[in-house]
Amino acid sequence: MWASIISEWLSLIFRWLHVIAAVAWIGSSFYFIALDLSLKSRDSLPKGVMGEAWQVHGGGFYHIVKYLVAPSQMPSELTWFKWEAYTTWLSGFVLMIVVYYLNADLFLVDKSILDLTPVQAGLFSFGSLALAWLLYEAACRSGLARHELPFAIGGYIFLVALTFAFTHVLSGRGAFNQIGAIIGTIMVANVFAVIIPNQKKIVAALLAGEAPDPKLGKAGKERSVHNNYLTLPVVALMISNHYPLLFGTRYNWAIVAIVLALGPVIRHFFNERHKGHPSPWWVWGVAAAGMIAILLLSAAGPRDAKTAATVAQPTFAQVEEIVTSRCSMCHAAEPVWDGIVTAPKGVLLDTAEHIQRNARLIARNAAWSSAMPPGNITEITADERAVLAAWAGAR
Ligand code: HEC
Repeated sequence: MWASIISEWLSLIFRWLHVIAAVAWIGSSFYFIALDLSLKSRDSLPKGVMGEAWQVHGGGFYHIVKYLVAPSQMPSELTWFKWEAYTTWLSGFVLMIVVYYLNADLFLVDKSILDLTPVQAGLFSFGSLALAWLLYEAACRSGLARHELPFAIGGYIFLVALTFAFTHVLSGRGAFNQIGAIIGTIMVANVFAVIIPNQKKIVAALLAGEAPDPKLGKAGKERSVHNNYLTLPVVALMISNHYPLLFGTRYNWAIVAIVLALGPVIRHFFNERHKGHPSPWWVWGVAAAGMIAILLLSAAGPRDAKTAATVAQPTFAQVEEIVTSRCSMCHAAEPVWDGIVTAPKGVLLDTAEHIQRNARLIARNAAWSSAMPPGNITEITADERAVLAAWAGAR
């Protein structure tokens, strides 16, 4: 019992930290992108200054100037922005261990997709995370990333292919988290392994009175552009585990493909505005079309729905029998499932009245998607899901 209670509060602590660190990181990164794009140059600016901006906030005015390479003299105090990113990754990785690796049988494995042991699934997850990042890093270092558009298209195809593969190895929820974790890792590694070290080398060169290698700054800029466009998709993937219709339906990988495309398109709208360019309003048409496509795809039902027999109006006794045999060992006032001490998320499915009351939740989690039972651990069948769907649909 204690292990289960402690893991619950560890998950709260690290989730809290993870969200706060990510807010701070994305907040400062959005701030600097907007600031950068809004800088205006003037003839009277000091030497080495590429532009200035005026801002008002918190009862005062800020006059910000940007030195392109560096000021003629290094300031004695310099604020670096890096711990926001590092903390996001570290807390996220611990959270992934607590939620996904320690509960791999529930949230990482789905035996109806691939019969993995928790250890195999954990190794697959960690191995593919490291490998995907290495491939990205190798592609960038080989100079491919200098060709922006082909690199963006190649990167997009790479991520969609990974998603497709993950949804055929891990549970839907595990696959969504996996692709989100890979994108997040790439983004933090960009800060840790390129942006900050290059900036440090530039500072060191300046302090030594040498001209810094312009390649250092260019590589850093390249990676920050990647991060800018990956921000919106990674957040969508990280919150997707609350939406069974996204991760637990048949075309879940195609939904990710749309999210991966929409994020950068929406970022483009704001980037253009910050530059003072005319706003590309078409972006919202594309975003709306994408969301409608996601809605339609998510209505396709669980992966195995195809094989289910069509069900006429089922009796409530049939429904009760299914829920009692597939769900109530966990969703009861006193669960009998090892490691589960209270009804998960407070959802009780142990009496006829509780089942009736939770009809919509049952439909979203177990009839229209295969989110529940987690990892299909109690082996509900496609026909049983069809019965639940017919019952929920007729209510
Ligand atoms: C092995 C235990 C187990 C079984 C069996 C199980 N669940 Fe769950 N259920 C969970 C856990 C754990 C969660 C919390 C998931 C999370 O943390 O996101 C959950 C969450 C839920 C939720 C709340 C989702 C939300 O976030 O709003 C619903 C509804 C649900 N289950 C329905 C079902 C139905 C219907 C069945 C049977 C078809 C079922 N569960 C079988 C463990 C189980």
